[in-house]
Amino acid sequence: MPTIQDIPRAPGGNPLFGHAGPLVRDPLAFVSSLAGQGRLVRMDMGIKNVVVVCDPALIRQVLLDDRTFDKGGPLFERGREALGNGLITCPHRDHRRLRRLSQPAFHPNRMAGYGAVMTELADDMASGWRDGQVLDVVSEMMGLTVEATVQTLFSDSLSRATASQITDDFLVLMTGFYRRMITPPLLNRLPSRGNRDYTRAIERLRNTVGGIVAARRADESDHGDLLSALCGATGPDGSHGRSETELIDEVLTFLLAGTETTAATLSWAMHLLSQNRGVERQVHREVEAVRSGGRLDFARLGELETTGNVIKETLRLYPAVWMLTRVTSAETNLDGYVLPAGTIVAFSPYAIHRRPDLYERAESFDPDRWHDATMVQDSYLPFSAGARKCMGDRFALNQATLALGTVVSRWRLSPVTDQPLRPSVKASLTPRRLRLRVSARSERLPMRDSALGSAEEGE
Ligand code: HEM
Repeated sequence: MPTIQDIPRAPGGNPLFGHAGPLVRDPLAFVSSLAGQGRLVRMDMGIKNVVVVCDPALIRQVLLDDRTFDKGGPLFERGREALGNGLITCPHRDHRRLRRLSQPAFHPNRMAGYGAVMTELADDMASGWRDGQVLDVVSEMMGLTVEATVQTLFSDSLSRATASQITDDFLVLMTGFYRRMITPPLLNRLPSRGNRDYTRAIERLRNTVGGIVAARRADESDHGDLLSALCGATGPDGSHGRSETELIDEVLTFLLAGTETTAATLSWAMHLLSQNRGVERQVHREVEAVRSGGRLDFARLGELETTGNVIKETLRLYPAVWMLTRVTSAETNLDGYVLPAGTIVAFSPYAIHRRPDLYERAESFDPDRWHDATMVQDSYLPFSAGARKCMGDRFALNQATLALGTVVSRWRLSPVTDQPLRPSVKASLTPRRLRLRVSARSERLPMRDSALGSAEEGE
């Protein structure tokens, strides 16, 4: 039976550093080039082999067998340092129990409350901008999603000072998290300022969250927020579902999982709208019709079809989680090759989403392609698939649609340079130094029927 060594090796490696060079220089181009080599391609990372899965059906096979293809690899080890054993980082053996305990937090009944928080915060943010102001888009969106997640998690339980302490510590954690992922563990232990700030931020964050969790457990009432749902969940015997440490791990997991990913998606969506005037106008018209002069209402989210499709298409072109890994927990067979236990297996949603054999005009921004949502079941993976699929997918789509609609209802977005925008490929795929100018809307809306059909590109 062919072994891992028989899998075609990716071109461009070097005997000493393997494929670290092309991966660091241009990771997106490198992973996108691999599909041409085969359904499975071998990459060398130091002394380790990484098997990159390039075929959507094989990716599905990997994702559906989460016992054999378990969480693991350097990304998850760093993740465990910061998040403990939360839903994202936990191994298969703990996963079903933890997932079941978090389920109530995402019950459809709770979504309207979460949506109202997002709309209010997005409206506050957008009403604070000045006509002609140039925004640092990623930092605006990061501020918004961190605040929205903190409020959604803790609702009214926090003083302003505690909420802003959590936000600050969390931003330090996010910056350090990626740096520590790519530097050797030894450097992470040096008493440098960055390392000290990182450790202190985690300690303070865990203490603050620990205090909130303890208070909430002593208080039985439902505050309608994520934390109430997490605290209220019980095990099958009616016992408290999670230990205090597990609750802290999960709160931090939700903070990490929901903020940078959603902020990156919103930032890319704003960039894409600034480049596609026709789509931007469609979104504006749709939002104006739905909000009827007030704030967007969660109850009418279903009518924001174009805005929702912009978010889906943004996640196709720029999936925030651009690369995912697993580790085999036992020897297994994939596509006829024997993979020993401990093999790192990877795949890239970014590379899959841009394949011309899977998507028509794969490189074009075309939200209308989502009118027919059945087309690409296996090839659309922004939230992964199988048992470890993103638990906040619906939540994220709702929040991003409401926030984008709110921004577009007030402002037109324009680029400030014709230089192509480059992605920053870190833990999430983020637009590098994205600046956009906002202009107050002055145009009157044309009549609805004639407007939606008209071609308004290239203004
Ligand atoms: C656009 C925004 C988001 C994107 C692109 C995204 C993407 C993902 C992906 C790809 C995974 C799977 C990771 C893997 O297979 O290793 C994941 C897992 C997860 N995400 Fe998200 N996510 C987003 C927003 C959120 C939000 C808002 C929350 C919660 C409030 C959330 C909570 C989670 C959790 C708890 C998991 C772990 C699920 C499990 O293993 O059972 N995510 N996310």
